[in-house]
Amino acid sequence: MSFIIAIDGPAAAGKGTLSRKIAEAYGFQHLDSGLTYRATAKALLDAGLPLDDEAVATRIALAVDLGGLDRTALAKHQIGEAASRIAVMPSVRRALVEAQRGFSRREPGVVIDGRDIGTVVCPDAPVKLYVTASPEVRARRRYDEIVAGGAAADYPAIFEDVQKRDARDMGRADSPLKPASDAHLLDTSEMSIEAAFRAAKTIIDAALNRN
Ligand code: DC
Repeated sequence: MSFIIAIDGPAAAGKGTLSRKIAEAYGFQHLDSGLTYRATAKALLDAGLPLDDEAVATRIALAVDLGGLDRTALAKHQIGEAASRIAVMPSVRRALVEAQRGFSRREPGVVIDGRDIGTVVCPDAPVKLYVTASPEVRARRRYDEIVAGGAAADYPAIFEDVQKRDARDMGRADSPLKPASDAHLLDTSEMSIEAAFRAAKTIIDAALNRN
């Protein structure tokens, strides 16, 4: 059976970097489930289709190819915003959750990160982490990332976006962002990525020893 590490948390909490590091260290495959929502949103935007038609968005979601998810091509802020809008639609979620569950069966194990992996997609995962950081720290990290990439950034606007995205992800009726009752909380506000990885490793190794 595949060993599943489920990692959830709000936008810009550092789950992506942490997930990739864990997958590499354990030789597991990694899926950033946010990319499946982003790929659906981008396909809609590219085709000039509406973002508020659940039947249309579901048809697109059913055709998303997990092998063709390109993080760079899907990174744009506007795509993330659109993804967050279609992610409130139950039948879009059903289509993408089905694809994510298919991925979760890959041997020898997987790391899947997102918003509802430990609560809905893989509720039986032996390791669940909820990675978070204060909204100020997350906005600051996003700001530094943009500036490091050579672009201009506006901290107050980014901070407002982080708060808006949190409200939408945590406030939706279907599969809202929240820690699973058996998730380990990892607040990275004052933690380096190395420190977060060490904390995660202790939790994962203990679960692997139990298995
Ligand atoms: O993590 P991200 O920024 O790439 O995610 C984009 C949007 O997709 C996010 O605002 C909410 C949605 N999402 C979701 O609803 N469930 C997931 N498991 C992953 C992402």
